Amino acid sequence: MIAKNKLRKLWYSLSAGQRHTVRRLYYFPADFIDGISGKRGKYVPPRGIVYTGGTGQPEEFVNQGIHQLNLLKEHITLQPTDGVLDIGSGIGRTAIALVDYLEESGYYEGFDVVELGVNWCNRKIRKDHSNFNFTYVPLFNDLYNNKVAKASEFVFPYTNTHFNKIFSFSVFTHMGVDEIQNYLNESKRVLKDGGKSLSTFFIYDDSNEEYIANNDRFCFPYKKAGYRLMDENVTAGNIAIHRELLNEMMKNAGFSEVKVIEGFWKDEERNPAKQEYQDMVIYS
Ligand SMILES: C[S@@+](CC[C@H](N)C(=O)[O-])C[C@H]1O[C@@H](n2cnc3c(N)ncnc32)[C@H](O)[C@@H]1O
Repeated sequence: MIAKNKLRKLWYSLSAGQRHTVRRLYYFPADFIDGISGKRGKYVPPRGIVYTGGTGQPEEFVNQGIHQLNLLKEHITLQPTDGVLDIGSGIGRTAIALVDYLEESGYYEGFDVVELGVNWCNRKIRKDHSNFNFTYVPLFNDLYNNKVAKASEFVFPYTNTHFNKIFSFSVFTHMGVDEIQNYLNESKRVLKDGGKSLSTFFIYDDSNEEYIANNDRFCFPYKKAGYRLMDENVTAGNIAIHRELLNEMMKNAGFSEVKVIEGFWKDEERNPAKQEYQDMVIYS
């Protein structure tokens, strides 16, 4: 396990461009075989460009998207006619599942700071489904790129009350607290009255802070004001937020209903009743 933490540190020490290159080379043989065997679905990216993590194995990629869709149906009652916003849409993992779920009267918008993922999604998914659209937003994130514009000042490119549902999977675990606060404020602005949101976070409180700071599996050693970091140099590497700060941020954004569904990332022994690795927050 200590080796895993060391490996993660080494991975973070590479630039985003270097990580992309290593990934492409490492997965080249598997991608080649998937390509000639025709096993990969038409919207599924080669493993080497799944920069969002995991093995990128086609079946796993598709199943994780279906899992995310099921969470949205269960926890924010996603409907086939909804207008939805996917913050940090990555390389289309959730969007692929939504293609089979959203009806033509429903619409999907996703945005992301990595152009490669956005271009892939527009080239593959939007081409066949005009109610799906992906927008590249060149904002700084020290894990994913070297841009300069600040996510903490970004105005979402949508009109007020445009969406019924907003979600983000594994995005607020890779952003600074001032950036997350701005994204929550903007979400409140673009969400319709009665709309609902689901985002995943790493959340802790006084009862488990000691454990998440020191365990040798997945830990956040660097303490800050109301949050903890996994890597002090790559601040977007992974961030865990204290429950009190999260509640304050939700309140600042104007969300009054906030429910946390605990994930199993901080369990010493995995509790099989938990659905998701990260904590899910449902807010409206
Ligand atoms: C772990 S990936 C998850 C991607 C996708 N949500 C999924 O479940 O496959 C995190 C994503 O957040 C994106 N991201 C990071 N900072 C962002 C920001 N400020 N605005 C939008 N997206 C961001 C990254 O580029 C990356 O695609």
